Amino acid sequence: MADTITADMIIHDVVSRYPATVKVFHGHGLPCTACAVGSRESVAQGARTHRFTPEKLDQIVKDLNAVINGEPVSVAPKKAPVGRGVPLTMANSAADRKIKQVIAIMSGKGGVGKSLVTGLLAVSLRRQGQRVGVLDGDITGPSIARMFGTKGQPTKSPNGGIEPLVSKGGIKIMSMNMFLERESDPVVWRGPMVSSAIKQFYSDVDWGELDYLLVDLPPGTSDAPMTVMQALPVDGVVIVSSPQMLATMIVMKCINMVRQLKGLIVGVVENMAYFETPNGERYEIFGPSNGTELVSMTGAPLLGHLPIDPSLTTLCDSGRVEEYYAEAYEELAGNFVNTLKIKR
Ligand SMILES: Nc1ncnc2c1ncn2[C@@H]1O[C@H](COP(=O)(O)OP(=O)(O)OP(=O)(O)O)[C@@H](O)[C@H]1O
Ligand SMILES: [Mg+2]
Repeated sequence: MADTITADMIIHDVVSRYPATVKVFHGHGLPCTACAVGSRESVAQGARTHRFTPEKLDQIVKDLNAVINGEPVSVAPKKAPVGRGVPLTMANSAADRKIKQVIAIMSGKGGVGKSLVTGLLAVSLRRQGQRVGVLDGDITGPSIARMFGTKGQPTKSPNGGIEPLVSKGGIKIMSMNMFLERESDPVVWRGPMVSSAIKQFYSDVDWGELDYLLVDLPPGTSDAPMTVMQALPVDGVVIVSSPQMLATMIVMKCINMVRQLKGLIVGVVENMAYFETPNGERYEIFGPSNGTELVSMTGAPLLGHLPIDPSLTTLCDSGRVEEYYAEAYEELAGNFVNTLKIKR
């Protein structure tokens, strides 16, 4: 792109290349078109949509060029609403962020309890008074909405975004499930469509102010989780594993993927680590813990060592995950918050 902005340039390209222009768009009353992710209109088309006169369009273009050259502009450049419409990476400072931390939950292997850990971590954080959202990044195999028992379809929010559904405990949730007519309907989408849905879940949803947005990733280290990781401004990753050699080997793939994407591993969670009988006897059903090994492999702390609890299955299946309470999850949430404090 040349260093002159013209009216026929696509807004997305302009704001991606010159983040400072977001404020000019906003100053001129083009809030939705300053959406770097969603908007594919040209500056002129955006102005037309908002019924601006050709003179006003000229002024916008003039100001866009002024701001990239460090010259004064004709409008007070308002701050862009970070958290919806503008990716976090474009925020000026941490203080500008409406969503303070975007954390992805990942596992190399399916079925180790990623979604469950995401859900229960959200519940514990919420109990501690944090403002929490859960973005179900598993577009083709969504499970978060069911776990929380959120019913109905998301509505339009007053400022034109999508209103997330809110759980009984006050956790904001967005999941592909909410858009399916029947929960059992398959979502047979390929990578690019999944990617654009994820971006919309992030940018077009009115998350409001959040301390944590937890993103439940699809299983594996292939295309699907990669798409999500690259579509969102993820601040850190929590890796979920279970105590099996195979799982350890697969965790290494996870770690390598995060490293390749230059991401930060916040910590590791060992799920299904043991089963405790009512008399307090512990059985390591899936083999001895490999927590220490995980710590040395990742260089990140072991945030949680979670037991197998059969009551969880019933609660999750009936949408009552928020009724669950166990010390191990409160500890997990505490460690998570403290680790992020240190890393920041
Ligand atoms: N600690 C646990 N105790 C009892 N049941 C558990 C535990 N962890 C997970 N489960 C159960 O195991 C099943 C798989 O868990 P979950 O869906 O969270 O895994 P996942 O890693 O998200 O799977 P996928 O890779 O398919 O997304 C669920 O039925 C869940 O309720
Ligand atoms: Mg899952």
